[in-house]
Amino acid sequence: MTNPQQPLTAPRNQQVGWVLFPLRVFLGVTFIYAGLLKFISADYLNPDSPAGVLKQMQGAATDSPISFILTRVIEHASLVGITIAAGELFAGLGILFGIWTRFAAAGAFVLSLSFVLTVGWGTYPYFFGPDIIFMAAVLPLMMAGDGGYLSVESIIRNRVKLDLGLQSASEITPAVDKAIARRTLIQSGAAAGGLGLAGLIAGGIGRKMNTASPTTSLLNSPSPTVSKSNQGPGGRKIAKVSDVPVGTAFKFTDATGGPAYLLQPAIGTFLAYSAICTHEGCPVDYDQGAKNFGCPCHGAQFDASTGSPTSGPARSPLAKYKVVVTGQDIYLA
Ligand code: FES
Repeated sequence: MTNPQQPLTAPRNQQVGWVLFPLRVFLGVTFIYAGLLKFISADYLNPDSPAGVLKQMQGAATDSPISFILTRVIEHASLVGITIAAGELFAGLGILFGIWTRFAAAGAFVLSLSFVLTVGWGTYPYFFGPDIIFMAAVLPLMMAGDGGYLSVESIIRNRVKLDLGLQSASEITPAVDKAIARRTLIQSGAAAGGLGLAGLIAGGIGRKMNTASPTTSLLNSPSPTVSKSNQGPGGRKIAKVSDVPVGTAFKFTDATGGPAYLLQPAIGTFLAYSAICTHEGCPVDYDQGAKNFGCPCHGAQFDASTGSPTSGPARSPLAKYKVVVTGQDIYLA
């Protein structure tokens, strides 16, 4: 028999919500961060950037098991990119704030699955790829939702119950429960819309501020912060010839402050590459013995003589810089 004093929220549900809360915070913040980074990045929607969504789709289309979909949507790469960024933002907000949590977690699952089948395809061993971990991590939220702990939806639900004058669980008949669910759904939808709009505005403002800055593009912007004494006929001085003995690599920072390598594979031949992996942006390391670059994140390898990927999940070559040698000094062109 139901206890008339039984609280409106069952303690067991609260316990589930409490256990899931750290997962919600981590996944929510991570998906919001990933979405905002894409909105803010000057490379993401740049069709010429190896780190851009177009190049990543073109690379993935060569061996992805869903290449038949990629080849159909590739001409709308910018739209796909914006949809992915917005999807990550909405999923993260829903999970973090506990609004339509199951739905948001399902969206995060679909996004992670799409990454596994495209940019993550070929990652070996499979657990080096982060997206497969995210797929597994959102499953408990898809199954249990937010559990009613510290969530906007549970606050709305409790308010609806108070509005209906309900005092205890015994008053919640199936018909009343349906009415509560309907009102909660409508009010949560309004909250989700408001939060999503705020997220899009934040992303738009971030993008505007970032594209207004001359130092934001990883690969394409000239150096705006070079001191005059470092300027040479070819641009910014990055090293002396003696800094790069034949067969070695010298680390320098590119125009945006990102890591880069200068190599001298043969006497008088100089090559410079960005050290940012074109898969998901980890810094690569130079292997002098193998004469290649290796990415510690998911195992991509790049040929040091061309910058082209030779194995692993990266599909695009490392960004290459032109260098000019004047006397004993080496400049970025
Ligand atoms: S970031 Fe994934 S292989 Fe480099």
